[in-house]
Amino acid sequence: MKFFLDTANVEEIKRVNELGLVDGVTTNPTLISKEGRPFKEVIQDIANFIEGPVSAEVVGLKAEEMIKEGRNLATWAENVVVKIPMTEEGLKAVHILSSEGIKTNVTLVFSVAQGLMATKAGATFISPFVGRLDDTGKDGLEVVEDLKQVMSNYGYKTEIIAASVRHLQHLEQIALSGADIATIPGSIFPKLWSHPLTDKGIEGFLKDWEVYEQAQRNK
Ligand code: E4P
Repeated sequence: MKFFLDTANVEEIKRVNELGLVDGVTTNPTLISKEGRPFKEVIQDIANFIEGPVSAEVVGLKAEEMIKEGRNLATWAENVVVKIPMTEEGLKAVHILSSEGIKTNVTLVFSVAQGLMATKAGATFISPFVGRLDDTGKDGLEVVEDLKQVMSNYGYKTEIIAASVRHLQHLEQIALSGADIATIPGSIFPKLWSHPLTDKGIEGFLKDWEVYEQAQRNK
């Protein structure tokens, strides 16, 4: 399973990357806007030290605009993946860009049908949004599981990025679903590697060690 970081913040990415946990990065216009500096600069800074795919999203709504933007984004760094929203115009753009060898990530996928359409259009990645689906009362994970089944039924090569991940349980369920990738916000990562019983265990061991050392010194 691969982990992508769902953030445009270089410091956050560096922190997790030092642990060897980052296989790629996904950004979106909201995440880029939080950085308050030029889009190109942010993407190039990330792509400079992350070898895996770095998704950069188009903002045009017409296929021609998305294609133009996508061709430009793809020149920013070798590992840039063009992120395209799941619309009819988006599918048109994915079809053209993928035929030119440009990698795409179809975002805002909320149903199996949408994921299947994007796959057929030639998407390299599809991003079903687990958390946002949960928010509507649906089971976001079910869409990921079903898409995984569709990929295996037909041997499609498109990879599933489980997105809109909100908590530890999401990640564990995504891992069990067999999704290729989970894209995780930087703020969630520390919660994934820590556990109160680990902290309590360390505290207990160190206390006992102190007592033991004191006893050794007093011998
Ligand atoms: C995916 O690529 C998106 O950037 C992201 O997962 C959206 O998540 P949100 O629902 O937390 O905004």
